[in-house]
Amino acid sequence: MSLKIDVVPELPKAPVAVFFYEDEAPKPAALPSAGAALRKELLERAHEENFKGKSGEVLSTFCANNGGFSRYILVGLGSKKGFNNEKLRSAAGHLYHFAEKRYAALGVVPPSQDLQAVEALAEAFYLAAYRFKQYKAQNGKDLILQTVALLSGGAPDAKWTQAVQRASVYAESINFVRDLINQGPSDKSPQTLGNLAKTLSGGGVTAEIMEEEKIRALKMGGLLGVARGSSMPPVFVHLVYKPKGPAKKKIGIIGKGITFDSGGLSLKPPQSMETMKCDMAGAATVLGVFKALKELKPKVEVHGFAPMAYNMPGHDATKPGDVLTAMNGKTIEVLNTDAEGRLILADALAFASQKKLDVLIDLATLTGAVVIALGHLVTAAMTNDKKALEKLLAASQKSGERIWELPLIEDYKEDIKSKFADLQNISSARGQAGTISAGLFLQEFVDSTPWIHLDIAGTAWTDKNTPLCPTGGTGAMVRTLLDYLCAL
Ligand code: BES
Ligand code: MN
Ligand code: ZN
Repeated sequence: MSLKIDVVPELPKAPVAVFFYEDEAPKPAALPSAGAALRKELLERAHEENFKGKSGEVLSTFCANNGGFSRYILVGLGSKKGFNNEKLRSAAGHLYHFAEKRYAALGVVPPSQDLQAVEALAEAFYLAAYRFKQYKAQNGKDLILQTVALLSGGAPDAKWTQAVQRASVYAESINFVRDLINQGPSDKSPQTLGNLAKTLSGGGVTAEIMEEEKIRALKMGGLLGVARGSSMPPVFVHLVYKPKGPAKKKIGIIGKGITFDSGGLSLKPPQSMETMKCDMAGAATVLGVFKALKELKPKVEVHGFAPMAYNMPGHDATKPGDVLTAMNGKTIEVLNTDAEGRLILADALAFASQKKLDVLIDLATLTGAVVIALGHLVTAAMTNDKKALEKLLAASQKSGERIWELPLIEDYKEDIKSKFADLQNISSARGQAGTISAGLFLQEFVDSTPWIHLDIAGTAWTDKNTPLCPTGGTGAMVRTLLDYLCAL
């Protein structure tokens, strides 16, 4: 990564950032104990400039220091009540964007000595520093911030350095996922992503890349049916990470890898297609998690499954009314070729179920309906096992990535029964509970294994710049999954 984060025992000769809570008659959240005079000065500057410490507030000012003057940057954390590491990340993101075009180096006094807060802070800087540069000659050249020095103030530096290192592993994985999502759809064919998956092998990871012939032999009728409309064949990736000692648990993560979703013959309108390069975000997340697993080395066995195909309306495309047979033998009447994610996931879930793992988690940009229900900040979860979901929700509390459960109501199963096959790929209750009916459809391909379905259609992409992510792919759920896997 281009940004360098150091842990230093003393304030560097550079502008120094200090955090303030909003509701405590503004008081820097942390300052070296020797800094009583400085503290007083900072409070005066804050008062003079009407700086309140609100979230997103950033103020640059001068203070007398050691007989000279130094520049200080006051950063608002918002209210202390309900403060958490996600709010810290956001404040750090605002600070980063304030500093990125102004200073080459920045000193930072963390608002707390807590190691998780230090990690969150470093992670936020690494994430905020992300730019997608592949297609732009000038992108990022105006940014001058090179190094951030975190003031440990006598805390054990080795532990802090470890926290920063961990943050860099997480952020590298997230930024890798963002890069893949942001790439043009013609630059990331199933074959290309399969080759990339292959490069992840080593360090406890093995990669098997299954091509069309193997997919046919496995009778993955859903994946083949979707790929038919494209001149590019499908690929199915199976990654395995094995820890050195005995594995505490075996977890499977499955990611939807539609490398572009045109809708197929049920063609999308042009505007809806503009961001459909993001339809492989689930598969990218799987690859990103494996990239980090090699470094983090948790004591669990992890299987990654990524079915990948273009959804195109080519001359041989699957037609509405066609019936496909998934790997588990269930037949599916395709009424709408734009409900393709569930077709490729049907095979992937059936394949993963055969591996007899302890928990399966799938990630998919599956339904537009979830964007209407929960917007861009909340991932929808559905499950056949509440206990399994509780563990993931606990991880999401720590990571700050929001997840909300939707119910897999049995009564709605009626609506995905087909007149001509076992199932149909869209609900007959048009415009109703689209996210749930997609979840119920997927459930038909999971055996009794505890399973969680995450619909990331809202959270995988952001339409506007946020403190931690520019417009485009977000890398949502990487952090949560890594925290989950490391806590098992
Ligand atoms: N990839 C889309 C879902 C999507 C929508 C992802 C918006 C990201 C942003 C999915 O394949 C799709 O087209 N779903 C259809 C299903 C419908 C035909 C039942 C949808 O949501 O419109
Ligand atoms: Mn679609
Ligand atoms: Zn799709």
